[in-house]
Amino acid sequence: MSLETPVTTREKVRVFVTGSCDGLAELREALGRHSEVEMVGWSEGARESAATLTGGHLQVVLHGTRSSGLPEDDLAAIREHTQAPVILLASGEASALLEQALEADVSDVLLLPQMTENVVFAIRKASHAGRRAAGGPSHAGRRGRVVTVFSPKGGTGKTVTATNLASTFAKYEGKNTLLLDLDLQFGDAAIMLGLEPEKTIYDLVVAPGELDSEKLAGYTTRHASGLDILPAPLRPEDAELVTEAKLARLLEVARESYDVIVVDTSPFFHGPMLATLDRTDELLLVCGLDVPTLKNVRLSLQTLELLAFPQNRIRVVLNRANSKVGMKPGEVEGALEVKVRFELPSDGKVPLAVNRGTPIVLADDKADFSRAMREMAKGLSPVEAVKVQKRRIFSRA
Ligand SMILES: Nc1ncnc2c1ncn2[C@@H]1O[C@H](COP(=O)(O)OP(=O)(O)OP(=O)(O)O)[C@@H](O)[C@H]1O
Ligand SMILES: [Mg+2]
Repeated sequence: MSLETPVTTREKVRVFVTGSCDGLAELREALGRHSEVEMVGWSEGARESAATLTGGHLQVVLHGTRSSGLPEDDLAAIREHTQAPVILLASGEASALLEQALEADVSDVLLLPQMTENVVFAIRKASHAGRRAAGGPSHAGRRGRVVTVFSPKGGTGKTVTATNLASTFAKYEGKNTLLLDLDLQFGDAAIMLGLEPEKTIYDLVVAPGELDSEKLAGYTTRHASGLDILPAPLRPEDAELVTEAKLARLLEVARESYDVIVVDTSPFFHGPMLATLDRTDELLLVCGLDVPTLKNVRLSLQTLELLAFPQNRIRVVLNRANSKVGMKPGEVEGALEVKVRFELPSDGKVPLAVNRGTPIVLADDKADFSRAMREMAKGLSPVEAVKVQKRRIFSRA
């Protein structure tokens, strides 16, 4: 059997429905049962579903309208939160709508009722065009992976994880790596790397002109491990200038320049964080062996579900997993109802390395924490994992 056999099962397209029109309820139901569509949700008003539109990894938005003209306000409300292609659905006489819509930023217009298969065909077509426009897999350019490190609790080890993971990707995996510090008010990723950069994300977002790869390169700082860092603003008050829209653009550009973008965060779901979630391939949810952190991680999992963040992108990381604090890793899984994907040991060498401004993976590659971190970096490189698997299967044959 050849391992190169093309995969025939199609990936489901993530669809969100807004607005209302005759026949929409029936269509929603039919799409909900369709094997090629993943119905993320529905809301009559686009504004009420802002969080899902932003963070839901949507591939297509269907918007039902009863108006005979273009629903400009609704479309603007949708566009404020997502760049996903929009298909307008209307019923009855809407020929004027068709012309206006095709002039506007709308992928397609369908008059209901329609055969479900016709609508699914339009959805697939729009999602394919959307991916091309966003520089997706069908685009010739590079597309880096975004790995976001988050925890709802301060001090759980986000920055230690993010800095060491990015250093590992750069030094041991040979990946072109960007470390982005999105703890916008009190970010300390640069300090943990022993750097005092002159330019930060604030300087980048206030600089005039369009952002592109060349411009981004002018604001990053190279670290000895080979990674580039875009640090947090130096003053907390400058954080608010890093808006959701600026960040969305920044991540799109960074994906063209880097293999992997590691994002360190603050313990909040603020606007820039939602824009990051929407572009996150793997979300490392850092947890510790203490009840308050567990409670907050559980709440975060619920929030992520409300935001329609795909569950298969969440990896729970248990930091200080070997600490003797009267709780076992298994109990964490029980409390969260989610598997722990990676465990990082408590290691006295970590705070020493933090204070010296050298990531432990570089200072001592034999330390327990460094070994665990390299394992984690490998587990986060799906392409490599598939290659290894293939090699094993071939060598058995
Ligand atoms: N596995 C570990 N073993 C030993 N010490 C650790 C470990 N992980 C983190 N620490 C210590 O905990 C401290 C807090 O970690 P870190 O700054 O990464 O947390 P954080 O989640 O980024 O916090 P904040 O929310 O304040 O940004 C670090 O200074 C480090 O010394
Ligand atoms: Mg931190």
